[in-house]
Amino acid sequence: MIRAMVRNDFPILRRRIHGKPFAYLDSTATTQKPEAVIQAMDEFQRKFNANVHRGIYTVSEEATALYEGARKKLADFIDAWSEREIVFTRNATEAINLVAYAWGRANVKQGDNVAVSLMEHHSNIVPWQLLTKEVGADLRVAPVNVVGEIDMKKLTDLITRRTKLVAITGMSNVLGTMPDIPRIARMAHRKGALVLVDGAQSVAHMPTDVRKLGADFLAISGHKMLGPSGIGALWARQELLEQMPPFLGGGDMIREVTLEKATWNDVPWKFEAGTPNAVGAVGLGAAVDYLQKLGMGNVHQHEQTLVAYALKKLRAIKGVTIYGPLDARKKGGVIAFNVEGVHSHDLATLLDREGAAIRSGHHCAQPLMRKFGVMATARMSFSVYTTKRDIDQAIAAIEKARKTFDS
Ligand SMILES: Cc1ncc(COP(=O)(O)O)c(C=O)c1O
Repeated sequence: MIRAMVRNDFPILRRRIHGKPFAYLDSTATTQKPEAVIQAMDEFQRKFNANVHRGIYTVSEEATALYEGARKKLADFIDAWSEREIVFTRNATEAINLVAYAWGRANVKQGDNVAVSLMEHHSNIVPWQLLTKEVGADLRVAPVNVVGEIDMKKLTDLITRRTKLVAITGMSNVLGTMPDIPRIARMAHRKGALVLVDGAQSVAHMPTDVRKLGADFLAISGHKMLGPSGIGALWARQELLEQMPPFLGGGDMIREVTLEKATWNDVPWKFEAGTPNAVGAVGLGAAVDYLQKLGMGNVHQHEQTLVAYALKKLRAIKGVTIYGPLDARKKGGVIAFNVEGVHSHDLATLLDREGAAIRSGHHCAQPLMRKFGVMATARMSFSVYTTKRDIDQAIAAIEKARKTFDS
């Protein structure tokens, strides 16, 4: 169980907005940071700042140990076989692009195809559009049904022997749907395709065990799991990383350079060109420690309780449409909705005046918005620090907004 006291670990939540308590309900966009993360980063900057992997002096070696220690923490967090399977990136988007550029350009050929679903974030659509256009491959899209789940029959039908990759979200950032990744992975592998999971949301909201997922690549976002911005990771099986050509060229990723050619460093460093975001990695490591202490099973349970609570309250409001599953057990900690007669931007503005921060817009999922026939929705999303009181505050503000527009 997550205690309400957890909220006190997040200094920003002590703020008052327009004189009201700060009800932060936009954790799907980015999460707030606990004191432990802020302190770890502060301490790194004050005591350990030096370039990693380069110096043979004490502080550089300490910085390297902290940076590599964070890699180990993240590897353990997702049950990877080895920390060598973790490549630090700037964010989940860069992790997906890394696969599209390095693996995709070496493995996807003219006439092949890549499959995604309609509920993907633009980060898991556009890199595959760029790749498939460039090499003359086909981008196939599995539809989403009315309850906001991937149509598994249609997904099965579109995976063929020419499918090289199935790229699917672990949790939709709009609908909250959590596709059955092990099942999709088995299906894809039977046809010889690899599987990439966009874990930007799922890793932050539920336990992740890459061994059980059965996927080949997993994109991770630091800022969505209580860590800082500017750090994320790609997990991939080590042999895949070893086979893949580099992504970016530069310092740190090489073994030897002559004017004619270069040879590559071992994995994962082969994919980490240039000075890395060591302080970000250390912050992410502290976020992992914090989440481990809470227990990801508890985090998931906490969010499901909040989802059930918020769904019930929202559904009681006249004119509310909710997108995605209405069963809390099938939904991660995010609810997209609209209120009849109130544009979601207006709703978000009115809620802000009541101290509640919700998101409004297309949530970087425009194809999905089109499917539901809307340009934008409002969205409230949760994390470990969210309380029922935050939801009550937002619900009261939604009622107030609806009445204002009704009159
Ligand atoms: C499902 C999903 N995938 C990918 C991303 C992109 O993550 P990042 O900001 O780490 O690039 C997001 C961010 O909202 C997301 O929700």
